[in-house]
Amino acid sequence: MTLNTDKLLAFAKRIASHAGTIMVEAREKKGFSADYKADHELVTSTDLAIDHYLCQELIAAYPDHRILSEESSPNLSLDAVPTWVIDPIDGTVNFAHHHRHVAVSIGLYVDGQRLLGVVYAPFLDECYWAIKGQGAYLNGERLWVVDGVSLRNALVATGFPYQKNALEKLIKRVSNVLHQCQDVRRNGSAALDLCWVAAGRLQAYYESVKPWDMAAGALIAVEAGAVLGRYDEVESAWPLEINGDSLLVCAPSLYDAMQQVLAVD
Ligand code: IPD
Ligand code: CA
Ligand code: CA
Repeated sequence: MTLNTDKLLAFAKRIASHAGTIMVEAREKKGFSADYKADHELVTSTDLAIDHYLCQELIAAYPDHRILSEESSPNLSLDAVPTWVIDPIDGTVNFAHHHRHVAVSIGLYVDGQRLLGVVYAPFLDECYWAIKGQGAYLNGERLWVVDGVSLRNALVATGFPYQKNALEKLIKRVSNVLHQCQDVRRNGSAALDLCWVAAGRLQAYYESVKPWDMAAGALIAVEAGAVLGRYDEVESAWPLEINGDSLLVCAPSLYDAMQQVLAVD
């Protein structure tokens, strides 16, 4: 299938930008309400409003494409049909607490492969994007992973699941990172963590996340020169290209060392 990637990118950036406007207006003017899904996971009226907006735009522009969305279609998988993988707000807890580290994430998969990713952080006015094979960018500036940093000087980000029933291994891993790397960051947006590896602000990021958390950021990180692999087993049934289980994304020279740091019993 031949797709016009420049047109797709312009479209994805436009809807990401408007999604950002919805976020900013909700926080600064209109307000929002908060609720919990599955009893423990925060979701705001703005997550749902942005989901609605993005889906409407996608259906109108690309009626033959499919949408895998955290809020409205989380169980769809990939096939040959172009599939948009969207997270209306990545960093909902940050959003609800008036932090600025929040993003909308839009990825496009074709034939099961990552083709395009846009991550827009409206409170920081940072728009990250990548097209497969064409590099990664932040507001028009080409991004490159910062490689060659020693493990001792590596700044490493991670995140923690909403459900707190299996924290033992997770805490061991954080302890290893604290002992062997420079420091740990828990910034609250997986999509931005991946973009920050791409931008050289972090040397590594690891976490088990869902497809919509990593769909766009994974391409942006890889296009900036990061290595994408796993620090533990893949347990969920998602195809590997959108499977966020045990995700380890880092500067190439750190990959083997990080795998050892994160190996726990
Ligand atoms: C969450 C954020 C967070 C990560 C969680 C995700 P949400 O996404 O990306 O950084 O640690 O695993 O679920 O719920 O804000 O879209
Ligand atoms: Ca998310
Ligand atoms: Ca979300």
